[in-house]
Amino acid sequence: MPKPSRLLLAGLVLLAGRLAWRLDERPLTPAEQREADARARMAGRRATDYALENIREEERAYIARELHDDLGQLLATLRVDMSLLMQQPAANQATRDLLAGMDQRLLSAITSLRRIASNLRPHALDEGGLYFALQSLRHDFEERHGVACELDARENELILNDRYSTAIFRIVQESLTNIARHAHARHVRIALYRHPGLLHITIDDDGRGIAQSDMEKPSSFGLLGMRERVWAIRGDIAITGSPRGTRIEIHLPLPE
Ligand SMILES: Nc1ncnc2c1ncn2[C@@H]1O[C@H](COP(=O)(O)OP(=O)(O)OP(=O)(O)O)[C@@H](O)[C@H]1O
Ligand SMILES: [Mg+2]
Repeated sequence: MPKPSRLLLAGLVLLAGRLAWRLDERPLTPAEQREADARARMAGRRATDYALENIREEERAYIARELHDDLGQLLATLRVDMSLLMQQPAANQATRDLLAGMDQRLLSAITSLRRIASNLRPHALDEGGLYFALQSLRHDFEERHGVACELDARENELILNDRYSTAIFRIVQESLTNIARHAHARHVRIALYRHPGLLHITIDDDGRGIAQSDMEKPSSFGLLGMRERVWAIRGDIAITGSPRGTRIEIHLPLPE
């Protein structure tokens, strides 16, 4: 082909490409634009929610450590001083009774502090992993509320990274709080099964059963937070109620 024709051909190809690109770039219809804006807003909100949740978890862990290491140590030292005082032979009975009362109150302060710190950052998660932390939740729930609670899971299936472990722990924690506050249940079952690439979680109670209107309460944040946590790790969650109780069912895709 002579040189000028080749140039002409190349020019035509370029022009066609540009036209096709322009056609593809046609302005969006108002409905499409609204849809695109909504998607962008949603994606932005999810990213912000996720970042905020991470900051919150870090703050909680920091406050929990401070409470435990600082205030906790101080109270423990005070208790040692108190026991030394009680051993003083010069102290009369009235002083000893007073000291014994103070010792009891110190002990309750230490217990409350441990509970508050472990709600902020589940110590059990750092100590023994998710299975151990869920066992502690289950045990505390039974002790505090007198409701039977069963955990059906295998320890070796719950070795997950911190992001997943914290999310699952918080979800189960909020579910149990809700059951204690709202369900009037007698029995709770938490089950976690691992399938290839997927974790299947169910939390069942035999209480009054959540109603559709309960899930739409504008001032309630527990279920909303639970949903946000699941969505942030690309899982799905279904909450259903019937006269036989409430079921929360979650599927979490796991990183390979
Ligand atoms: N297991 C359950 N059984 C029966 N009702 C439930 C159960 N869990 C939640 N609910 C109902 O759903 C509502 C919403 O729960 P959600 O956790 O979002 O909010 P909350 O517990 O009322 O307040 P918070 O924002 O402190 O969590 C509750 O107020 C309650 O009426
Ligand atoms: Mg709640």
